Amino acid sequence: MEPVRVTDFAKAKQRGHKLKMLTAYDYPTAQILDAAGVDAILVGDSLGMVVLGYEDTTRVTLEDVLHHTKAVARGARRALVIADMPFLSYHLGVYESVRAAGRLVQEGGCKAVKLEGGLEVLESVRAIRAAGIPVMGHLGYTPQSVHVFGGHRSQGRTLETARRIVQGALALQEAGVFALVLELVPHRLATWLSRRLEIPTIGIGSGPGCDGQVLVTQDMLGLFPGFNPRHVRKYQDLHGLCSEAVRQYVHDVDVGAFPTEQHSFSLDEAVLEALET
Ligand code: KIV
Ligand code: NA
Repeated sequence: MEPVRVTDFAKAKQRGHKLKMLTAYDYPTAQILDAAGVDAILVGDSLGMVVLGYEDTTRVTLEDVLHHTKAVARGARRALVIADMPFLSYHLGVYESVRAAGRLVQEGGCKAVKLEGGLEVLESVRAIRAAGIPVMGHLGYTPQSVHVFGGHRSQGRTLETARRIVQGALALQEAGVFALVLELVPHRLATWLSRRLEIPTIGIGSGPGCDGQVLVTQDMLGLFPGFNPRHVRKYQDLHGLCSEAVRQYVHDVDVGAFPTEQHSFSLDEAVLEALET
């Protein structure tokens, strides 16, 4: 079982093999994804919403991502572990960008990092890559800019925004990213761009023409109720299943159906008798 490397991403695209990526933020989930055959595990800053309970990803810190990356890296044997660079960790100059990416690799144990944006982040991409750290790009809807988008999610539906995505993608490829996430980009644009690029595209809500797919695991397992966007397919209702299990436990303890003596340990009668005297 050879571990997946960034060079396998390019090979997969050449051979027409779809790349499969999901997010994880902890050790057991990483183990499940790894054993089930995903190629890459993203420690996404979506952890801000689906694990930490924040409203958006702008509250996630480098320490948050580091903490969860350590757990995921311990659970992944085959899959490539990629850590998201959080809000503001790559906007304050190349020194801070390389420092942040370097900590994710050195302390966190990931093999690559992902950051959002196009032309405005090229310098950081080049510097991080020059330090020996593979970089994944992320265009289209970029959640760290949620306050700039002002409620609009799908990106690239006008000529102007479509052009900006294409320019960003070509520039990122030129700067050396090994793959590119396209989030909520119209599927015809994503397909067109995927054909045009040499690096693989990893789509989320961007249609079947991308070279790979990614979802937030909590979304596809039904662990993040109340969020049912168009791009997600719910493969399981874990929130419902877990709620039912917990209700059953509460009921069983209430009525004395759990625990039974089998859930505990035996004691020699003589010990009890000796205690009495
Ligand atoms: O943080 C995240 O989960 C992501 C994916 C949705 C691509 O960036
Ligand atoms: Na992210």
